[in-house]
Amino acid sequence: MPDELDLLISRDRIGARIDELASAIDADYAAVDELVLIGVLKGSFIFLADLARRLTIRHRVEFIAVSSYGDRESTESGAVRLLMDVRHDIAGQHVLVVEDIIDTGHTLAYLLRLLEARGPASLRACTLLRKPDREQVEVPIAYLGFDIEDVWVVGYGLDFAERYRTLPDICAVRR
Ligand code: IMP
Ligand code: MG
Repeated sequence: MPDELDLLISRDRIGARIDELASAIDADYAAVDELVLIGVLKGSFIFLADLARRLTIRHRVEFIAVSSYGDRESTESGAVRLLMDVRHDIAGQHVLVVEDIIDTGHTLAYLLRLLEARGPASLRACTLLRKPDREQVEVPIAYLGFDIEDVWVVGYGLDFAERYRTLPDICAVRR
């Protein structure tokens, strides 16, 4: 592991938690015809891949990309921009947004507003990580992996200036 990183959540703990999340989602959507998973690029791509492959219910995978203008300060201002939309209409569909991490909450709040306006049959959010101390807007989370302290984390899809995304464990960047 690179010198500036400390292990925070091991791949084994991540895997065990995703087993639990997938079981909960399987049970909650058992009566639904098809679930639409919308992964938020880029950070959620590994989480979504692992979560989706554990589901036994029928589902479809879509992606959406947003930009928070790059740096942390601008994210805190709440400025979120849509970079790439989903390919299919979600009206009347059961939708689960899959995020890597909720920091201030602005990104997810924006996405839920955007998608709700399209009239899905249901709309919920699933996030692997959340930093409760950083919350600025309250967003409802139906499925949560782990609450973490206010540290910058990388690995398992998450990056620090595009580095470390493909590390198998979640690590904290030392200040
Ligand atoms: P929010 O809009 O402040 O909730 O920010 C959410 C987005 O910021 C996430 O989807 C990530 O892309 C990014 N982000 C926030 N905290 C971290 C972190 O610790 N590591 C990597 N990306 C992060
Ligand atoms: Mg993200």
